[in-house]
Amino acid sequence: MDATEKKHNAAKASLEFIQPGTALGVGTGSTVNCLIELLPTVRERIDKVVSSSKASTKLLEDQGFEVMTLNEAGDLDVYIDGADESTKRLHLIKGGGGALTREKVLAGASRRFVCIVDDSKLVGMLGTFPLPIEVLPMAQEFVSRQLLKLRAQPVWREGFITDNGNHILDVQGLQITNPVELEDRLNRIPGVVTVGLFARRPADILLIASDSGVREMRA
Ligand code: 5RP
Repeated sequence: MDATEKKHNAAKASLEFIQPGTALGVGTGSTVNCLIELLPTVRERIDKVVSSSKASTKLLEDQGFEVMTLNEAGDLDVYIDGADESTKRLHLIKGGGGALTREKVLAGASRRFVCIVDDSKLVGMLGTFPLPIEVLPMAQEFVSRQLLKLRAQPVWREGFITDNGNHILDVQGLQITNPVELEDRLNRIPGVVTVGLFARRPADILLIASDSGVREMRA
């Protein structure tokens, strides 16, 4: 089974968490794109939809959904999103698609965060995937110097501007043995907008698709 089929299967399995009257948060990325394709099949169960990126908003609108802002919608029942890496404790690296800031806001505003991945994303320790950090453009070099002091190697995602008008540093060489502590530490660097570690607010449910089906893990 190829990765696309697995992503589709994980997305399909997440539909059961959309119950009648759901205020739904929708993430960003290729796995979520599979979800957006499937959402019309549960349209009648969805009360409100909020999106984590301009890209997902466009796809949702193409499917006939009216996308609300979080300010309009209030708290969400369920947030469904993919990840770049997850541990068994459901700590995540996110931001490969650059939408980490709005993703973190929606995850924080949701009662339940359902993360959908294929089995290549499950890791023993986070950090093989470079950690995305969204930074204010004027602070990019300063933040990079602070990261170098931590023996990490920040790489500017050149030419990429986030939906919030900021830059992304993809940070290599981090040994993420304590994700909560590292998330807090990186968040304290002035100029950091969002760290792509989702450890303080991990996923609640991880749906992992493999050749043998979709397995559910809970935090
Ligand atoms: C976007 C994200 C995505 O969830 C993450 O990059 C996974 O993407 P994909 O489903 O395409 O593998 O965090 O900012």
